[in-house]
Amino acid sequence: MPKAELHLHIEGTLEPEMMMTLARRNGVALPYASVEAVRQAYRFSSLQDFLDLYYTGMSVLRTREDFFDLTFAYLEKVAAQNVTHVEIFFDPQGHTERGVAFDTVLSGLTDALDKGRRDFGITSKLIMCFLRHLPEEQAFDTLKHACRCKEHIFAVGLDSTETGHPPSKFARVYAEARKEGFVPVAHAGEEGPPDYVREAIDILQVRRIDHGNRALEDPPLTARIVSEKIPLTVCPLSNQALQTCPDLTLHPLKRMLAAGLLVTVNSDDPSYFGGYVNENFVAIQQALSLTEDEIATLARNSFVASFMTDDDKAAALAGFDAFQARW
Ligand code: ADE
Ligand code: ZN
Repeated sequence: MPKAELHLHIEGTLEPEMMMTLARRNGVALPYASVEAVRQAYRFSSLQDFLDLYYTGMSVLRTREDFFDLTFAYLEKVAAQNVTHVEIFFDPQGHTERGVAFDTVLSGLTDALDKGRRDFGITSKLIMCFLRHLPEEQAFDTLKHACRCKEHIFAVGLDSTETGHPPSKFARVYAEARKEGFVPVAHAGEEGPPDYVREAIDILQVRRIDHGNRALEDPPLTARIVSEKIPLTVCPLSNQALQTCPDLTLHPLKRMLAAGLLVTVNSDDPSYFGGYVNENFVAIQQALSLTEDEIATLARNSFVASFMTDDDKAAALAGFDAFQARW
């Protein structure tokens, strides 16, 4: 099926082979002797346990070429999975903290996205994330960079350590970002409580919730997300790998669909969690015995929930419906 991916951290597509190659290319020392040793380390007990490894891994990314190679490799993979549109997160603070210039990161990403459009016809938008474990002042510094590059950055997001870092911590920087024209989204309810989802909606005024699984614990909140049609970008293999839902047969996705939520399936950090978007579809279909209609709804939702222009969205949905009718 044609589909969009709406929850993908570009730094989370760094495959162990590329990690070792870039470490060698850039003379970066890693605590792993081989590709196998990197893979061995991919057993996570929590979001934080994963994030420690994720930040170590991204330390090999130093040059414009590194960011280009990383992004183009992702686009090549998902072109083969019939992904036609991507909305990609990146974490500039994970790089500027290490002395890599914001413009080095952004130019590598945008050059690869341009080539992805030319070579595969994949359209894209970039979502710049603030790291929520860092102070709001540093998010403001990052926003200043984004304001110089508005033609390349469509939205702002919030990621990294959720527990102890509620959306309200970033109220002022989101107000400024909205004023500057950036569309707000945020990770919420991945590990954090339903109140964090409520704060993301009320205080950050998000247009999409990334994950949002724990909103289901709060029926009035769930009803509100349904009635306001706020999309949730759900990531099954991530939830399994990070132990928020170790047994996928207990995953809430089917209940989310039944509740009328606008949910989509995504890969989050595919190199770390064992699969790109199609592997997520297959795993969750098998675990929950999803019907063909449910699977089609999930794929169709990915266009409905996207930030495409109205015209592009209508064309993508018409293409999807034509595909479904033929199939
Ligand atoms: N950064 C990369 N992946 C993440 C996730 N699943 N949750 C929060 N921050 C992240
Ligand atoms: Zn994520």
